[in-house]
Amino acid sequence: MAIRTATCGMGIRGVALLVFLGILQEISSLRFEVKDSTNSTCILADLSVNFSVGYTSLGKQVQVQFNLPETATLNPLSTCGKENTTTPLLGILFGANHSLNILFARNASRYEVSELIFVYNLSDATIFKNATENGTKEVSTKNTGIGASDNTAYKCLNTHSLSMGNVTVSFHDVKLEAYLKQNNYSQNVTLCSEDVSPTASPTATPVTPTSTPVTPSPPAVGNYTVNGTSGYCLLANMGLQLNISYVKKDGKEGLYVFNIDPKNVTVHGGCTNTSANLSLSSDSVYILFSFAKNASTNKSYLQNVEMNTTMPLDSKDPVFKADNNTLMYLQTTSHKSYRCKSMQTLLITSNFSINTNNLQVQAFDIDENKFGSAVECVNDDNGMLVPIVVGAALAGLVLIVLIAYLIGRKRSHAGYQTI
Ligand SMILES: *[C@@H]1O[C@H](CO)[C@@H](O)[C@H](O)[C@H]1NC(C)=O
Ligand SMILES: *[C@@H]1O[C@H](CO)[C@@H](O)[C@H](O)[C@H]1NC(C)=O
Ligand SMILES: *[C@@H]1O[C@H](CO)[C@@H](O)[C@H](O)[C@H]1NC(C)=O
Ligand SMILES: *[C@@H]1O[C@H](CO)[C@@H](O)[C@H](O)[C@H]1NC(C)=O
Ligand SMILES: *[C@@H]1O[C@H](CO)[C@@H](O)[C@H](O)[C@H]1NC(C)=O
Ligand SMILES: *[C@@H]1O[C@H](CO)[C@@H](O)[C@H](O)[C@H]1NC(C)=O
Ligand SMILES: *[C@@H]1O[C@H](CO)[C@@H](O)[C@H](O)[C@H]1NC(C)=O
Ligand SMILES: *[C@@H]1O[C@H](CO)[C@@H](O)[C@H](O)[C@H]1NC(C)=O
Ligand SMILES: *[C@@H]1O[C@H](CO)[C@@H](O)[C@H](O)[C@H]1NC(C)=O
Ligand SMILES: *[C@@H]1O[C@H](CO)[C@@H](O)[C@H](O)[C@H]1NC(C)=O
Ligand SMILES: *[C@@H]1O[C@H](CO)[C@@H](O)[C@H](O)[C@H]1NC(C)=O
Repeated sequence: MAIRTATCGMGIRGVALLVFLGILQEISSLRFEVKDSTNSTCILADLSVNFSVGYTSLGKQVQVQFNLPETATLNPLSTCGKENTTTPLLGILFGANHSLNILFARNASRYEVSELIFVYNLSDATIFKNATENGTKEVSTKNTGIGASDNTAYKCLNTHSLSMGNVTVSFHDVKLEAYLKQNNYSQNVTLCSEDVSPTASPTATPVTPTSTPVTPSPPAVGNYTVNGTSGYCLLANMGLQLNISYVKKDGKEGLYVFNIDPKNVTVHGGCTNTSANLSLSSDSVYILFSFAKNASTNKSYLQNVEMNTTMPLDSKDPVFKADNNTLMYLQTTSHKSYRCKSMQTLLITSNFSINTNNLQVQAFDIDENKFGSAVECVNDDNGMLVPIVVGAALAGLVLIVLIAYLIGRKRSHAGYQTI
């Protein structure tokens, strides 16, 4: 990892720029460090940046992609700023005088990237081949969506894109912190919303500062297994969507709905004769399902769900926890599985529910490492019930019409006779 360090006094002129070249740790993340006049670090950033810029080349609108090169350096104008007068600035220079400037601001409990400015030089023929225009262009946005709680580092492994006119700046593998106290990152991190909801698509859309609730697409189905003493003791195929209602910083109620990405979780589990556990965990969410077996009735069911997750930035509480161990969901008798293809909602607590789709689970008594015959959920039965009800109603209608016709015929016939 290349380390760029600058010493920034209150007077910006005559600043010493020190460039250390360290060992390359991560393939793409570059480290930048801004220091004040006493050599204390105030901004630390490890980041990877991709740029996509539209420009006119030989009369045609073209799009060019490039990333922040390893040769990028810290702009000597970078500064820790002075409270209420100058803003902390992390400036990055690369190539033919292209510059990315990241400005910070803070309030009572948070700091954020208050503005992002990108200045690019269309005369740089190595990037902008045959550009019709020359000279520099500047784009900026104050709507960055990058921020974290005080004394935490902002972390975002997923892509976080900012669109500004003809330019899209995409950050990924980012860890950064401003207003540092101990010359190093804080222990705690604030994850970006892209990392917390693994399904958020990494598209180049402008980021709005307040997270508006969006219902994610149906969750991908994961096939989870837990090993027992002889073969599997728990099989679970299911798509999982978590639905949390929470209180925002402004006191309003928010909904946080996100999918569990089966590819992005670590699976753990274990079984005893009467309990079977499956836990799924990622950087930002942990969820445990415990199935119980009642030896006297031979019934098994989902008894306990425990969950904790980091929350979106606008949440009053940065983490959310829930558990309920008096549940009785997905019940089957031994050697059978429980199946529910349609979306079903398992209410865990008053503010947390799980939507499942294409679910089939079996805990205990698994024969030949395969699901036993399935007990279907009510929702799926309904799918059959509707045609049956409609069919029965139609048959009834036909019968009524037939009877009415026969009676009518008999009456008119009878009437005819009396005349
Ligand atoms: C800051 O560190 C540099 C080298 O690391 C050193 O040359 C300089 O004297 C230091 N300045 C202060 C004010 O400590
Ligand atoms: C960034 O750009 C490089 C090539 O320039 C590409 O390989 C990489 O996939 C891009 N990363 C993202 C997250 O867009
Ligand atoms: C994008 O670039 C084109 C040509 O390079 C220019 O005409 C247009 O004004 C630019 N759009 C914005 C929003 O800057
Ligand atoms: C832009 O790039 C050209 C070509 O590399 C260079 O001559 C020029 O000085 C650059 N412009 C600025 C403002 O640095
Ligand atoms: C930029 O364009 C102007 C006008 O088209 C031209 O006079 C100038 O020489 C160009 N500069 C460079 C560095 O290409
Ligand atoms: C900064 O913290 C990282 C872990 O967060 C640690 O590996 C590193 O040694 C620390 N650096 C210094 C100078 O304390
Ligand atoms: C589970 O058991 C299978 C074979 O029955 C084995 O291949 C696999 O490694 C086991 N997994 C774990 C996590 O122990
Ligand atoms: C999430 O739960 C709330 C009630 O807490 C409900 O109104 C909303 O429709 C649910 N959303 C989804 C996608 O299940
Ligand atoms: C668990 O079940 C096995 C086989 O049915 C039995 O041998 C064992 O004693 C049981 N263990 C406990 C703790 O009940
Ligand atoms: C098993 O089920 C029976 C009958 O419903 C109930 O009385 C008993 O308490 C249950 N045992 C456990 C351990 O839950
Ligand atoms: C746990 O679930 C049961 C059954 O759905 C419900 O009656 C109970 O209120 C829940 N407990 C909590 C703490 O939400």
